[in-house]
Amino acid sequence: MRLMIRVAAIMGCVALIGGCNNDNPKTNEHMDHSIMKEDTNAADHSAMDADMMGGHMNHDDVLRLHDSTGENELKIPPMLKNEHKEDVVYTVRAQKGITEIFDGTKTKTYGYNGSFLGPMIPLKKGDRVKIRMINELDEETTFHWHGLEVAGDIDGGPHDPIKPGEEKEIEFTVKQDAATLWFHPHPTGKTASQVYQGLAGLLYIEDEQSQSLGLPNDYGKNDIPLIFQDRIFDDKKQLNYSSSMNSDGTIGDTLLINGTVNPKLTVNKEKVRLRLVNGSNARNYTFKLNTGDSFIQIATDGGFLNNPIYMKEITLTPSERAEIIIDFTKLNRANDIALINEDGSILLPFNISGQNGSISKIPARINDFLVTDEEKNLPVTKTIELFGMMEHVTINGKKFDPKRIDLTQKQGVTEIWEIHNKPDMMGGMIHPFHIHGTQFKIISRDGKEPTESEQGWKDSISIKPDERVKIAIQFKEKGVFMFHCHILEHEDNGMMGQVKVE
Ligand code: C2O
Ligand code: CU
Ligand code: CU
Repeated sequence: MRLMIRVAAIMGCVALIGGCNNDNPKTNEHMDHSIMKEDTNAADHSAMDADMMGGHMNHDDVLRLHDSTGENELKIPPMLKNEHKEDVVYTVRAQKGITEIFDGTKTKTYGYNGSFLGPMIPLKKGDRVKIRMINELDEETTFHWHGLEVAGDIDGGPHDPIKPGEEKEIEFTVKQDAATLWFHPHPTGKTASQVYQGLAGLLYIEDEQSQSLGLPNDYGKNDIPLIFQDRIFDDKKQLNYSSSMNSDGTIGDTLLINGTVNPKLTVNKEKVRLRLVNGSNARNYTFKLNTGDSFIQIATDGGFLNNPIYMKEITLTPSERAEIIIDFTKLNRANDIALINEDGSILLPFNISGQNGSISKIPARINDFLVTDEEKNLPVTKTIELFGMMEHVTINGKKFDPKRIDLTQKQGVTEIWEIHNKPDMMGGMIHPFHIHGTQFKIISRDGKEPTESEQGWKDSISIKPDERVKIAIQFKEKGVFMFHCHILEHEDNGMMGQVKVE
């Protein structure tokens, strides 16, 4: 019964017990269908389990997000200022705060250098960077730099907790190319709850190439981050993690983009670059334009694609990023343009001002990413098996144990990992798989070359039930690094392992 109520919670209403007030036709259809199967024997779990798994396999059936009314202009995370003249020095404080997400209502939140979410920290390839991390929360936290190629002791995984009131400093050199990375906490068993309450920020890396290409790069004007996070607000408009929590991934009905509820984005008539970040605990998004227009993808998690590609839609699972450009001078319609989700829900309406914007370019060639023949022909040396749901999630049959090293790899040596999402009797679900401290290349998905959209540096990949993905991976730095499912509740439930690089 407990499971069934959870299922109902996933669907966003308690249809099984009556009183469903969700007006999403698709969700209702799905629920009706499950009621039909269930009504004679509501205590029988098995069919319901299957239905639930189906719900995960088919993301059309996941609780639909409320359409954005567009009443609030999108907030842009502040760009953090370097505190030094010669060196690059930043201070990041994890704090508690109160945020007016809804007009006139105070919501208790967490944030970095502010009450909710965090700043954008700009870094440049070659920079020597110092970051002072201060924990002003009442609980332990860590500062994890997702996608950053740094040594294990800089990475901020569960091994590096900072106690309440304490601080720590890290120092590293930025060695990787331009990319949109992010940072968030990673304390054992509490990652999901801390991210949910608002701990997430952006880390941009620029390099000479990225600044000379002529791409839109006026931060907040035509180069806009979009951090997508779905949440459930209780009747007092609070983020009550423990009551909203679902051990299979907390899904909300209310979308926040950069912490803004019901956002709209005002743009000039120009090419606008959107840096899409799936910062949700568990929700997958398939982004498209309501007009059916194409947009141009220019980057994956860890850097530029070789060639910009036209896309009608792009799917991002938790922690994946992509950069896209929408050319607002060339759309089918002059207004009523919005970014929508696969199910048609309106995520971000655009308000196109009459003004012409700046002229930016999208060069035909923007990177030299290459999967070599040698890499394609290397044998598989590590296999990873993702399995399970809810509390019963494992990697290679085991749950995370901080004292156990699961894999070892030599610094600077490329290996091929094969990751398999082992289905269960009911099918299984997508697991977004992430590895710390490195950017890797996808060699194949079920033996086939990945689509162009994934031919670039990645640190997180979506793996479908029974899919086998081969990646070529090298660690530039030493240390112990996590690999895990980025459904944050799965991670907290132990769907995580450690690779020691020496
Ligand atoms: Cu986004 Cu273990 O990380
Ligand atoms: Cu990470
Ligand atoms: Cu998972």
